[in-house]
Amino acid sequence: MFPAHRPRRLRTTPAMRRLTAEVQVHARDLVLPMFVADEVSSPRPISSMPGVYQHTLDSLRRAAADAVASGVGGIMIFGVPDPDDKDPQGRAGIDPEGVLNRALRALRCDLGDDTIIMADTCLDEFTDHGHCGVVAEDGSVDNDATLDLYQQMAVVQAEAGAHVVSPSGMMDGQVAAIRSALDTHGKHSTAILAYSAKYSSALYGPFREAVGSSLHGTRASYQQDCSNARESRREISLDLEEGADMVMVKPAMLYLDVVREAAELSDVPVAAYQVSGEYSMISAAAERGWIDRDRAITESLTSIKRAGADFILSYFADVAIGLLDR
Ligand code: PBG
Repeated sequence: MFPAHRPRRLRTTPAMRRLTAEVQVHARDLVLPMFVADEVSSPRPISSMPGVYQHTLDSLRRAAADAVASGVGGIMIFGVPDPDDKDPQGRAGIDPEGVLNRALRALRCDLGDDTIIMADTCLDEFTDHGHCGVVAEDGSVDNDATLDLYQQMAVVQAEAGAHVVSPSGMMDGQVAAIRSALDTHGKHSTAILAYSAKYSSALYGPFREAVGSSLHGTRASYQQDCSNARESRREISLDLEEGADMVMVKPAMLYLDVVREAAELSDVPVAAYQVSGEYSMISAAAERGWIDRDRAITESLTSIKRAGADFILSYFADVAIGLLDR
């Protein structure tokens, strides 16, 4: 009798395929990134990310409540300041009355501990030059001067109500610096989600519009080069030593090998960020009828989980939940 082995048996019906699936994405695995802007009076659509908005504080609270009701595991909040409030140090990001910190306070008040509220702990949205840190006289980004600002920013975010602070600036030593500042201020329970392996990527393009970033130039002197995978092991190991509670790989779809490496290396949960460009590529092709949007969403998230991510940040999070079988 030939063939002796028939793997197709396990693919015969939807019920058999469901039963034998090796991984499945759950609503609780998904974290929805959201934008709150200072200067908008009604939610402003982001043209390069159809379906995503710069929220007002009120619309953010409503949208966050809806996302939580749908079952997402968490939300990640990015602040978009009034352009006039940007300065070389990104002070509007540290000000307890800045838009991001006001939003964190309101959300924690609305949502309590029912969902995980994460804050982006980075200066690029708030600096007039658009870099993730302080720019030195010679034009380079000053690592150690930036750490001092990240420490202040993280403490203010924790005090505003963030359960998780998320340093995304790729400065050396940022996790240790933030951990020590949080502990000094009694914020032992605030967790750090470290963007450990963050690549300098074209896929962040639409995010620039989303946060009104003023960056000219590149982040190549602090974010990783796409040629390097071994380097990610070093970045992740260092962040683990420095006290990261969770580590993240970003972007996701072009870096699934790195997600796999992270899953093998890490003894803490591993996240992956399906970034703005990943969202926009799927959305644009689907809008043209070139790919099936729902299938592309499900397949991309499942693949990221299969590679080893424990949870996934995705602008599709709320939409995806409607597509998952539960
Ligand atoms: C930096 C930050 C960026 C993103 C998340 N945090 C921008 C960058 O590094 O250039 C990009 C996220 C996305 O593209 O969805 N604060």
